[in-house]
Amino acid sequence: MKNFNHLIDLNDFGKPQWDEIISLGEKIMDNPHIYEASCRGKIMGTLFYEPSTRTQMSFQSAMLRLGGGIIGFDNPTASSVMKGESLKDTTKIVSSYSDIMVMRHPVAGSVKAAALTADCPIINAGDGGHLHPTQTLTDMLTLHKEKGRLTGLRIGICGDLKYGRTVHSLVKALSCYEGNSFVFISADELQMPDYITAPLEKWSKSDSIDEAIGGLDVLYMTRIQKERFPSGEEYERQASRYILDPGKLKKAGEDLIVLHPLPRLHEIDAAVDSDPRALYFKQAHYGMYVRMALILIMLNYDITPPVLLKGETHGGAKCKNDNCILQNEPHLPQSFIKNDGVITCEYCESRFAL
Ligand code: NCD
Repeated sequence: MKNFNHLIDLNDFGKPQWDEIISLGEKIMDNPHIYEASCRGKIMGTLFYEPSTRTQMSFQSAMLRLGGGIIGFDNPTASSVMKGESLKDTTKIVSSYSDIMVMRHPVAGSVKAAALTADCPIINAGDGGHLHPTQTLTDMLTLHKEKGRLTGLRIGICGDLKYGRTVHSLVKALSCYEGNSFVFISADELQMPDYITAPLEKWSKSDSIDEAIGGLDVLYMTRIQKERFPSGEEYERQASRYILDPGKLKKAGEDLIVLHPLPRLHEIDAAVDSDPRALYFKQAHYGMYVRMALILIMLNYDITPPVLLKGETHGGAKCKNDNCILQNEPHLPQSFIKNDGVITCEYCESRFAL
């Protein structure tokens, strides 16, 4: 295993590094020309096994604005993946052509698995319904710029909390700051997974935007993740259940901000876009600067590389999550962390009794 400073889970880094990335992102935003040759001669490989607009283009634009170059694919059927090449082999090769790599993949734990054999640092741009750390950096920079703080916030998170990877990373990071509390607004079937709520202190559930919105500093809306549902009927039952419209916003405070990682479907009525509290388009724009900062820091600073696997095999334990990379790539070392009779898969974080 190589020792690169990968970004798989934001919590592999700590608050001082998050603050450093956010503050560099803000400096770049103020004076982008200073950084325009900072990555001259460097190449970023972008491997997008799943559709993407903002994440992919903001990463590409970030690298180009730093003076670097980009290679990669966003349509795996046009690469050797179509011929059946494993994730391990594709990663090995592309990482040998690149100085830094960005990967999005539909299976949880896949980017960690790729990092085990990559020959350059790798950034998780979304692994199935698991995590999306660079969206969280975007969200944190947005909160810092627009609310002036990352502490003491009451944050409502609405929509698909089960399969929505952006909100998993967001809660993991924001719960490390003092005084933050969360209201999870969703249908019971789409509530936050255990591995997110288990370590939390201040959180509650709600099944109504109207009921929760009054006391919030931030309302983070999310799309129902159709592509991760086991059946079309189940998706239809959940789609359009929570919609933010101007009527609901009337019950909110003047300094609420509304965020969304986008793409938005029906969950925010277009009439909300002109409300000054609707900041989702600005949020997407900020994402480019925070990714410029992240690339610069990962390529130039000494960051202690994360230990990718800390666990053990635990007597032949198997991960029961069908969407975990352990089911796809048989060469991977099985690795689980045991705690109070519960074991957690180190790739997808699913928890189950031993
Ligand atoms: C999100 C994603 O891909 O997880 N989009 C993004 O990266 N900004 C959210 C989504 O697809 O709903």
